[in-house]
Amino acid sequence: MTRDLMFQDEIKQLVADAYHDLDEPDGPGSVFYDDTQLARIPPSARSWMLGVGNPVPHARLRPGEHVADLGCGAGADALLAAAEVGDTGHVVGVDLLPSMVERARWFAAEAGHDNVEFVTGEMESLPIPDASVDVVVNNGSVNLCARKSRVLAEAFRILRPGGRMAVADLTIHEEELPAEVVTHPSAWAG
Ligand SMILES: C[S@@+](CC[C@H](N)C(=O)[O-])C[C@H]1O[C@@H](n2cnc3c(N)ncnc32)[C@H](O)[C@@H]1O
Repeated sequence: MTRDLMFQDEIKQLVADAYHDLDEPDGPGSVFYDDTQLARIPPSARSWMLGVGNPVPHARLRPGEHVADLGCGAGADALLAAAEVGDTGHVVGVDLLPSMVERARWFAAEAGHDNVEFVTGEMESLPIPDASVDVVVNNGSVNLCARKSRVLAEAFRILRPGGRMAVADLTIHEEELPAEVVTHPSAWAG
């Protein structure tokens, strides 16, 4: 059972602060990608790879498909998806932080993709129309949300019938965690 010891806004704020305050990360998420994939990501963007896996290959993207990357950060997975769906496809990356969105736009321009856009928004209330994407990808972001079932409901809303979702994320199996863990900022944002 989830122990409801913090307000949702409190959790959102500490997650936002943790990612806003990041300074020169060393790309911990890049270890999950092979050289062919990394070659598609500008070197400056690789240090901003903060994910916990490599979801895009699991999405089996096809040219022309429309993709949404939720909690896209600096956009590495969105860029990989953009390369796979090609000029007839489209990718939208959504992130809570305007600073991440700005960074992702910069890296997309550097990579030369014009079939990808980045918008500021929350996974719990996506700025994306109903039934408008074929695939949702997510890398290390659902775990940061206080309302995870709300994120899944939003993913379902924006997917077309028959759509797919590829998620790389952290889970816990303990039913009860100590209060000092459940209320610790790095347990929510780390
Ligand atoms: C661990 S990073 C992963 C970023 C990216 N997916 C990657 O693989 O590098 C998590 C990202 O989720 C964003 N985020 C956290 N909570 C969010 C929310 N409720 N809605 C949208 N984005 C959120 C953070 O701003 C951060 O950029």
